Amino acid sequence: GLSLQKAPSMIDGFTLVEVKQSLVDSVWHPVWGEQKQIRDNHRELFVLLKQSAVKGREIGIRFRLFDDGLGFRYEFPKQNSLSHFVIAQEQTQFNLAGDHTAYWIPGDYDTNEYLYTTCKISKMRSLQKQATIFIQDQCVIKNLSTQTPLMLKSDDGLYINIHEAGLIDYPAMCLNVNDTTFSLSSHIVPDAANSRGYMQTDCKTPWRTIVVSDKATDILASKLILNLNEPCAYAQTDWIKPMKYIGVWWEYFLGLTKWSYTFSNNVKLDTDYTKLKPHGLHGATTDNVKKYIDFAAENGFSAVLVEGWNIGWERYSFLWKEENFDYITPYPDFDVQALRDYAAMRGVKIMMHHETASSVSNYERRMKDAFQFMVDNGYNSVKTGYVGAITPRGEHHDSQWMVNHYARVARLAADYKIMVNSHEAVRPTGLCRTYPNWLAQESARGTEFESISETGNPPEHTCILPFTRLMGGPMDYTPGILETDISSFGKKKNRRVHTTLVKQLALYLTMYSPLQMAADIPDNYRKYADAFQFIKDVAVDWDESYYLEAEPGDYVTVARKAKGENKWFVGGITDENPRVAVIPFNYLDAGKWYVATIYADGRDADYNLNPKSYTIRQVLVNSKKVLKQSLAPGGGVAISIQEATSNQRKNLKSKF
Ligand code: NOJ
Ligand code: CA
Repeated sequence: GLSLQKAPSMIDGFTLVEVKQSLVDSVWHPVWGEQKQIRDNHRELFVLLKQSAVKGREIGIRFRLFDDGLGFRYEFPKQNSLSHFVIAQEQTQFNLAGDHTAYWIPGDYDTNEYLYTTCKISKMRSLQKQATIFIQDQCVIKNLSTQTPLMLKSDDGLYINIHEAGLIDYPAMCLNVNDTTFSLSSHIVPDAANSRGYMQTDCKTPWRTIVVSDKATDILASKLILNLNEPCAYAQTDWIKPMKYIGVWWEYFLGLTKWSYTFSNNVKLDTDYTKLKPHGLHGATTDNVKKYIDFAAENGFSAVLVEGWNIGWERYSFLWKEENFDYITPYPDFDVQALRDYAAMRGVKIMMHHETASSVSNYERRMKDAFQFMVDNGYNSVKTGYVGAITPRGEHHDSQWMVNHYARVARLAADYKIMVNSHEAVRPTGLCRTYPNWLAQESARGTEFESISETGNPPEHTCILPFTRLMGGPMDYTPGILETDISSFGKKKNRRVHTTLVKQLALYLTMYSPLQMAADIPDNYRKYADAFQFIKDVAVDWDESYYLEAEPGDYVTVARKAKGENKWFVGGITDENPRVAVIPFNYLDAGKWYVATIYADGRDADYNLNPKSYTIRQVLVNSKKVLKQSLAPGGGVAISIQEATSNQRKNLKSKF
């Protein structure tokens, strides 16, 4: 139930008015995804309850039970005794049967860019302080709490995942943790007025979801959250295209160039930048972007993200500035028209960047003009960003107003046929089914932290994310850093990527997204051209996916078939421990021979001591083969597979 502001709560005193049951068994086809078709098979139970003591107010609860879990939500039918109401707190509880192991980050209203802590629920309190590392703009819940998707494992080997589906017009849910009764209770995010949800009947809450299995791989393969979301809201979707992109981006994080154009901090939106002295380190110059466009064209990438193209980065700070960017005025050294023509000539798109610095009121005012500017200049995708404290002041990244904002951006962008990649937005809840132009989100600690902090992303991080953040939808993790030594560029001390080079390749499979960045700079791809080949080859849209092995925090191995092609890709990753991945090929067409190109950690590879040791070998495989592949500490394996030609059948061996 729920407690309400200035009204009796809807928790007890109910009588049963109506019970309805139904059975659904249908198949639908996502615009893009891990598989080309998804089965939605569930039993539904709807109960309508009446609170006779409170003017006969009515609340409905709808349950959907799937083979791998359930979802339920509250519904408030239109009625005379309940029209407008404000939620004080949702009172949903998840009462666990024991002291399960939790893979958790602290409850927070504004950020999810934490590292995960793995411990028993009874140990969470003792680790709470340590888990609450400093993150820009954090707003930590003081009581013991965590965020969803929350991954749990019971002592007897049951895997349990708690999250929500279809988060629309409602605050995001954190969970208060009772570490003695092992009860989790919902804690929805308040707004500036300390309210937690403005409702008007007829209305409903998002689904609360529980995915359960005794196999960890089933959790990753679950489609329960997508099934609980509404079908695609758009009549036409042929303009929505999964893609790989590169960007004027990592060079900022290496410290080689800057987003800003000058060192002047006395700039306003009407400042004439041509009169200012440039510092000479600006990354988004016409010439530099042309080089990236060339590299994208030569290597088959669809788009080039360009950050730092627009005026205002000198003032980019975390300080609640109402007017900060206008999204239509480039720096003097970024020639919009020339780049539009150059990109078009080379068959590449530029990905627009809208860093709002969290002045969301400013962005709302300018969004239409910004999208029209994009259309006029040949852009069809935008990376949005919400660094800093939110304006309207006092709102949180995960409050109801912001939840509505992100969906508004996705819908408005669709009117302009623009695809969206949002950073620092609320964690996803499967809305990409309804708004498939919302290709990916960040909403967790991505690769950038390898440069931002010395701790970076320890090897287990990417072995936990698929069980947590990615349960809600694709992540723009920005993998593909082949030069793992960030300090070698001379600008940052003690910074490196906490994986082997090969694990960076495997992430293209284990971190499912229809939008994948090849995040490293072109020079590094030239340096490791043979390994880069895998990033060029790997698909981003799939007919089939099979999770072969997985354990939260330890390892993930997945095989995927490229959409509309008889090509397969396999990725396996491990945490700081070495392991042997066991990779069957029984999903391949029986009786056919394929060539597997195996990118493996070198014998002496180790994410700590020797990350760039790798081997590439080609082997003939068929559906009966099973590969046992060693993974280095912090390592991985990446395999691309296609049908063998008759020459290859003669010349290659079938021994691993
Ligand atoms: C944080 C984003 O995650 C990152 O990708 C971006 O480069 C910076 N903000 C600047 O907008
Ligand atoms: Ca581990």
